[in-house]
Amino acid sequence: MIGFKHPLKCVESLAPITRLCWEMGWNEINGGNISWRLSNEHIDNVLKQIVKIDEDFIKLSKPQPTLDGEYFLVTGSGKYFRHAIEKTDEVFGIVQIKDGGNSYQKIWGFKGGGKPTSEFATHLTGHSIRKRQSKGREEVILHCHPPEFIILSFLMPLDSSLLSLALWKTMPECIVFFPDGIRVVPPILPGTNKIADASAIELEKSRIISWSHHGIFVSEESPDAVFSLVETIEKASAMQRKIIAAGGAKQTISLQLLRELTDATENIRVCDPDILIKEEKKSNL
Ligand code: 13P
Ligand code: ZN
Repeated sequence: MIGFKHPLKCVESLAPITRLCWEMGWNEINGGNISWRLSNEHIDNVLKQIVKIDEDFIKLSKPQPTLDGEYFLVTGSGKYFRHAIEKTDEVFGIVQIKDGGNSYQKIWGFKGGGKPTSEFATHLTGHSIRKRQSKGREEVILHCHPPEFIILSFLMPLDSSLLSLALWKTMPECIVFFPDGIRVVPPILPGTNKIADASAIELEKSRIISWSHHGIFVSEESPDAVFSLVETIEKASAMQRKIIAAGGAKQTISLQLLRELTDATENIRVCDPDILIKEEKKSNL
């Protein structure tokens, strides 16, 4: 996998990370999907290599006017992350959003007649919101099924503050790398506009959401950054799950230490930890 080469530079950097997600146990069978809103540099590289573009415009189930003209590298529906290296042009495809955000056009990949993931409506909704909220910084969205994280949605109340605080109190890295916390979406049928609409509300507040009893959905600036964030959350979730299974914590990282971590990392944090600020106010009452 190291040294994987591909004429499309975006594919060269996304395919090995995609395969690594499977190795981590986050993407069984066709589970999960990944999409990348391509920068101008990547688009130039793609357009130089493409000889023929599919002429059809395919309607989006949920129009995305703010993404009109954008290019996305995205996994195909029903494709396996495990095959990302050997069957790259089947597992991935590139599309451009057209027609004022009402349709897309296939530019590359989806060999054998594939199409973008069944979660494309949520990916595009997520890109639209997170592009605005991050002022263009975030480009990659990963949805996967990390087991320890999913287990917490069976063991804990489905509550954004409780989940975020539990993980922050487990491992010092957590509040530093996801001060926006994790926002919980209730169980909803996958692959629908309904899950996209429910996710949209939470993605306004955080780049990380939990699809209860199903998986995680995370937005970040690069394939490497999105992987690292899920890796951190999954490790903290595993520790938290073991703590719960052992009968609960005797002590945890305190609110005081969370505040010190927050203040000491002001220059690298993506935002202020709103959930901690609310908790501090409550504990002072
Ligand atoms: P796709 O194969 O359509 O990407 O679906 C996988 C998945 O995880 C749905 O939530
Ligand atoms: Zn899924």
